[in-house]
Amino acid sequence: MKDLLRSQDLLKSDVEMLLATASEFASEPLKASNLLANKTVAIYMSKPSTRTRLASESAVAHLGGTPIFLRGDDLQIGRGETIADTAKVISQFAEALIIRTFAQSDVDELGANASIPVINGLTDYDHPTQALADWLTIREVFGKDISGRKFTYFGDGNNVTTAWLMMGAIMGAHVVAATPEGKFAPKREVIELASKLALESGGRVEVTSDARSAASGASVLYTDVWMSMGDPEADRIEKEKALASYSISDELMSLASKDAIFMHCLPAHRGQEVSASVMDSPASKIWRQAYHRRTTIQAILYHSLRGELKGRI
Ligand code: CP
Ligand code: NVA
Repeated sequence: MKDLLRSQDLLKSDVEMLLATASEFASEPLKASNLLANKTVAIYMSKPSTRTRLASESAVAHLGGTPIFLRGDDLQIGRGETIADTAKVISQFAEALIIRTFAQSDVDELGANASIPVINGLTDYDHPTQALADWLTIREVFGKDISGRKFTYFGDGNNVTTAWLMMGAIMGAHVVAATPEGKFAPKREVIELASKLALESGGRVEVTSDARSAASGASVLYTDVWMSMGDPEADRIEKEKALASYSISDELMSLASKDAIFMHCLPAHRGQEVSASVMDSPASKIWRQAYHRRTTIQAILYHSLRGELKGRI
């Protein structure tokens, strides 16, 4: 597999390889510091980013290369140059492209037209590089044996929910999405595909509107912002009302397993999707998660540049 376009495209063996390499990059960041010597990686973002940009640029630097950062309106795409033509041009100057944008179909089109690896750094649909950092963090805390454990995401059924359900299903985990029914629930296709992946891996996908039962006995309580980048402002009030009971509080944490951790992809809004007391508690693994954005992106670059991702497509 040339690209990393969607979480669902990864095989468990790909994920295991990426996590193992990312762990090595955590202890030895310069382990492959010649891989990109005198070479470049393009990072093109049409949405803001703190972590993904910093992690991507530093991952490229650790591999000996130079990142070329392009903001959404820097390119001629905004003036009508096609995605396909842009992909062909970027392929002549960079060894890989990390892209953050709105439509998943744009990322797919870039992948189809670029001769270099294209890595999804977040779309409205998915956030695969985040999911890998999440799983490395989970692995560090709980080890490889996750049988009997439950991993719950709370809140808006968004791109991070897709990544959470797909990656959990690939890993053979019992993953839960606790979201309100209707407009803010994960899309039916996401639930169906994740359930299919879980069937293959021995995992389990559960979607519920009952936040308390979803927290009960869980090993991970995960959440994300209620308003994602690009979400219509007109939905804000309705969303805040619908999501209020999915906010992660000390009370919700008290229903979880004794060794439960709190996770959040960040940025966070204390007092909305999570209380400050949970966010800043000893159970919170958010800084380790953020740290692993670099180690995992470094591993993705390492293996995709060497053509070592197998993928299921
Ligand atoms: N978690 C994450 O993707 O953060 P940024 O939006 O800051 O990149
Ligand atoms: N769901 C959020 C994730 C940010 C990392 C968004 O898309 O804005």
